[in-house]
Amino acid sequence: MNEAARALATGWHTVDAMAAEFEPHFSLVAEVGGEIRGVGCLKDGLIKRLYVTPSFHRLGIGRAIVTALEEEARRGGVEVLRVDSAPVSVAFYERLGFRRIRPDAWIRGDAVFEYVVMDKPLAVTSSPAGS
Ligand SMILES: CC(C)(COP(=O)(O)OP(=O)(O)OC[C@H]1O[C@@H](n2cnc3c(N)ncnc32)[C@H](O)[C@@H]1OP(=O)(O)O)[C@@H](O)C(=O)NCCC(=O)NCCS
Repeated sequence: MNEAARALATGWHTVDAMAAEFEPHFSLVAEVGGEIRGVGCLKDGLIKRLYVTPSFHRLGIGRAIVTALEEEARRGGVEVLRVDSAPVSVAFYERLGFRRIRPDAWIRGDAVFEYVVMDKPLAVTSSPAGS
């Protein structure tokens, strides 16, 4: 992310903007000791807004959120779960079974947001007979 992108993103990451994205979609929070330490949501088969408080990284919170989003995606009949990953998070998603599809970028004026398109085919879970 370049400086122009950083400045643009600061305006988007307000409480109201986040709430507007979380509310209409399947969204999760991870609590530790009563405090929210991680969030993530599922929007049309795409993982969005996955974030864990930095001091709580590498404790399994990100995995737990993605696993729960995956389960919800399966329940909703999603065959391939997708994410547009920040370049720094590609290794995390690979650990969770996602594969790299292609690098891409979203450009608005001088602002450049680079990301990596990734996906994970979801095994179909058969529903119990008669249901
Ligand atoms: C990416 C992020 C959500 C990971 O959350 P986390 O709670 O630290 O991840 P976990 O502890 O559940 O890690 C799961 C696995 O991924 C590995 N992993 C996590 N972050 C990693 C990284 N940056 N590089 C390599 N491996 C990583 C862990 O070691 C663990 O491996 P294991 O299978 O050997 O146990 C977190 O770093 C974050 O919020 N980053 C900033 C926001 C962001 O980039 N979000 C994604 C936007 S697309």
